[in-house]
Amino acid sequence: MNVLIINCSPVRDGATAKIVRLAEERLSAEHRTRCICIDDYEFSFCKGCRACHKTARCVQKDDFSKIMEEFEQAHIILSVSPSYWADVPGQFKAFIDRCTPWCNTHQPHASLSAGKKGYAIALRTGPRMKECERIIGTIEHFYGHLEIQCCGGLGLCSVEYKEDVASHESEILAFCDKILEA
Ligand SMILES: Cc1cc2nc3c(=O)[nH]c(=O)nc-3n(C[C@H](O)[C@H](O)[C@H](O)COP(=O)(O)O)c2cc1C
Repeated sequence: MNVLIINCSPVRDGATAKIVRLAEERLSAEHRTRCICIDDYEFSFCKGCRACHKTARCVQKDDFSKIMEEFEQAHIILSVSPSYWADVPGQFKAFIDRCTPWCNTHQPHASLSAGKKGYAIALRTGPRMKECERIIGTIEHFYGHLEIQCCGGLGLCSVEYKEDVASHESEILAFCDKILEA
């Protein structure tokens, strides 16, 4: 199966990227993996024009469509997101907003092919898990409206820099093993 692993952080070599690499190493044992970083793409904010509510298409043409092509190719999607002010980074939120043509609350809407499974890993510097749960909630809300099945989340606290990921390595690998077993 094809696994898409998304670094939802704009930092290409930080803690999030380190987790993405660990997950890739584990998941590539059994699946074709592809890693992308939200910062690899240039796209505009959603304008809130709602043209897509009538047409199921966005009026803007930019790199956003390249990310959706990656989603379409994937059977399993793993979003790895740091907490930026207690939610996903703005770059990833801007991507979610641009997915409005795919949102199943209006007709017509665009659709990804069926049967995709979605997972989320959230990380933060602070000590309380509730904030990670909120970020996983944001990602699962997004998955739900794209009809990507929410299959599990992992929260990691006390992570600021990539060096801090080492103490969570066994949890991350165990989470990847659950993805492999599913
Ligand atoms: C702009 C910004 C906002 C942040 N806000 C929070 C926060 O609200 N709560 C928290 O626990 N950590 C916060 N952090 C810390 C990051 O979640 C943490 O350092 C994470 O490991 C960053 O991963 P990255 O370097 O891959 O982006 C913030 C970091 C940045 C840069």
